[in-house]
Amino acid sequence: MGIDVAILGYGAIGRSVHLLLAQHPQRVRVLGVLDRAALAKEGPKPPRRSAGPPEARVPVLDLPTAIKRADLVIECASPSAVRAHGPEIIAADTDLLVASLGALVDARLGAQLHAGPGRCHLSTGAIGGLDLIRAAAGTLEAIELETVKLPAALLHPGLSGAQREDIERAQATGSPVLVFSGSVSDAVAGFPSNINVAAALGLAAGDLSVVRVSITADPTATLTSHTITVRGETGNHRFKLRNFPDPANPASSALTARAIASGVLRLAGVGPHFI
Ligand SMILES: NC(=O)c1ccc[n+]([C@@H]2O[C@H](COP(=O)([O-])OP(=O)(O)OC[C@H]3O[C@@H](n4cnc5c(N)ncnc54)[C@H](O)[C@@H]3O)[C@@H](O)[C@H]2O)c1
Repeated sequence: MGIDVAILGYGAIGRSVHLLLAQHPQRVRVLGVLDRAALAKEGPKPPRRSAGPPEARVPVLDLPTAIKRADLVIECASPSAVRAHGPEIIAADTDLLVASLGALVDARLGAQLHAGPGRCHLSTGAIGGLDLIRAAAGTLEAIELETVKLPAALLHPGLSGAQREDIERAQATGSPVLVFSGSVSDAVAGFPSNINVAAALGLAAGDLSVVRVSITADPTATLTSHTITVRGETGNHRFKLRNFPDPANPASSALTARAIASGVLRLAGVGPHFI
């Protein structure tokens, strides 16, 4: 009994997921990890090296090996990793758990990942309330997401000039600056690894167009906050999440790794099963 998994993306979240799953060896066996940084060091013929902390070391795998041996690939790498490897994983009848939900804003990729024969699961990631939004899907009028993060958590090499200037202004003045306001697709295009939460809301609602997103860079923010306001036929709902950043990457919330590990344990048969 139990499932065999491989972890795609061995950064802040991947390492935490590995440590969390290593506590359940009877239910989940972590066969290895895939990471472009580790594979680049290894050269074209991995895996010969081990990765991870001494208490839970595992081999570095290449994708064909991972697909062949694992029941489930856990993606916690980047939206580009989902685009590059997701279809191949699903087509090989291996299941995939996606954390980089921004990739699924591309409806064509989403359809490919849900076409099977492998099954594509979506992680709840850094927020809660997706069960409620899913339940109310089709009856929702509007969802508003207000995200506030440290400026450093929003900086990345692909930023537009204007957005970079806004974030740097927040850093220089010490005051919050609104750096983005718009649709889920534009939020994900501008901040691909930072605003998966926006994609999660749109995917749960079954309609990206009901979600409006604002992102504020706040140099005084001690926590990452997501305020989610939902209006629809089931009522008005408001969630306020104040997350501790992941100690290894301020752009991610510490909750994300726990959400992924919790989801994997449920797939491995560990309850209770809230559905
Ligand atoms: N759903 C959510 O709420 C949520 C929250 C936070 C982060 N995320 C997603 O999780 C991802 C990982 O977060 P993190 O904090 O661990 O980031 P990180 O930068 O610490 O680690 C990412 C790792 O993935 C590897 N990687 C990236 N693209 C790859 C590819 N194409 N192939 C192989 N390896 C690749 C990198 O080398 C790096 O080691 C983020 O990019 C984001 O998309 C989702």
